Amino acid sequence: MALLEIRNVRRRFGDFTAVDNVSLSIEAGEFFTLLGPSGCGKTTLLRMIAGFDQPDEGEILLDGVSLAGTPPEHRPVHTVFQSYALFPHMTVAANIAFPLKMANRPADEIKSKVAEALEDVRLSEFAARYPHELSGGQRQRVAIARALVNHPKVLLLDEPLSALDAKLREQMQIELINLQKEVGITFVYVTHDQGEALALSHRIAVMSRGRVEQLDEPDKIYSFPRNRFVADFIGTCNLFDGKIEAAENGIGKLKVEGLGVVSLALAAEEAKAGNAGLLALRPEKVKIASDDQPGEGNCFQGVVRELLYLGDVTVYAVEIAGGVRVKALLANFGAGRTRFFEVGDTVTVAWAVDAGHFLHE
Ligand SMILES: Nc1ncnc2c1ncn2[C@@H]1O[C@H](COP(=O)(O)OP(=O)(O)O)[C@@H](O)[C@H]1O
Ligand SMILES: [Mg+2]
Repeated sequence: MALLEIRNVRRRFGDFTAVDNVSLSIEAGEFFTLLGPSGCGKTTLLRMIAGFDQPDEGEILLDGVSLAGTPPEHRPVHTVFQSYALFPHMTVAANIAFPLKMANRPADEIKSKVAEALEDVRLSEFAARYPHELSGGQRQRVAIARALVNHPKVLLLDEPLSALDAKLREQMQIELINLQKEVGITFVYVTHDQGEALALSHRIAVMSRGRVEQLDEPDKIYSFPRNRFVADFIGTCNLFDGKIEAAENGIGKLKVEGLGVVSLALAAEEAKAGNAGLLALRPEKVKIASDDQPGEGNCFQGVVRELLYLGDVTVYAVEIAGGVRVKALLANFGAGRTRFFEVGDTVTVAWAVDAGHFLHE
């Protein structure tokens, strides 16, 4: 049985549906992420798990028991909000003790629970320090310890790293992965940052407009996006509308307006002439070469129209004769040389038959 089960949950505000028939099962010990653009209903869903808000339809179960009617303070769930917010004038121990003091727990219980929580996050020797005497990662650990002090079964984290700069965020992500592994508690993590979701999660639910578009492991989400929204939201993707003209032995011929006919490996159920859909092709799967080097598989000649130098890689936008632009990503591996091609260069772009996917919608 799943630890946390969300069944057909709906939440409306007036005639706007913020969470639209969402069903999810989250396992004990899982690092589960709700990922989606701002406004897609992530916080609303988290608030209903915490009990700050109620579903209009559907139910939320913990260990198989409905949480309906259980107020937030009686749910074995704790929420960590953005930026962690520790009290600067309190020591580490006092910060962690705070929720227990608020609940009027006896002093000896507070003492032992704080000691236990400090041990969980390996900060026992920092009990008497103040937040400003800690590193960012240690402050994060204190905030988690404070969240763990009441032994919740689930920790809900709503964009905890979104206020940090890129470098610090990356350090904190590594801390969070280790921390979750060490304490073994179930995390339900909310972010709009696809890179963060891919880096942290065991599984990701990609949301759009209150619905779950895809629920999968990070590598599946990235490599096998289920539809246009997911392909476009996660990383960068070439997306071309097309129609299957012919299909034989698992290889389809897809006609793409402005590009030409593309050969594509197809799953049996998709391999039907006449099916319309789209080709999703990651830029790192596209090889770019000078025009006297025809590539393997699908190969088209074009002209470099734009390039985006990102340091480690460069993304080239190559315009094919028919007018379509294909994005190709090339790692800048050569010493001292930062660009292989310039705007205006005639090049070939090529990709293998199994490099792209056919999507229905
Ligand atoms: N209390 C509320 N009253 C009216 N609309 C709300 C309320 N809470 C959230 N919404 C709307 O529901 C949608 C989803 O919000 P939210 O769950 O906060 O999105 P996210 O966390 O994914 O950015 C948004 O359009 C938001 O404006
Ligand atoms: Mg939110």
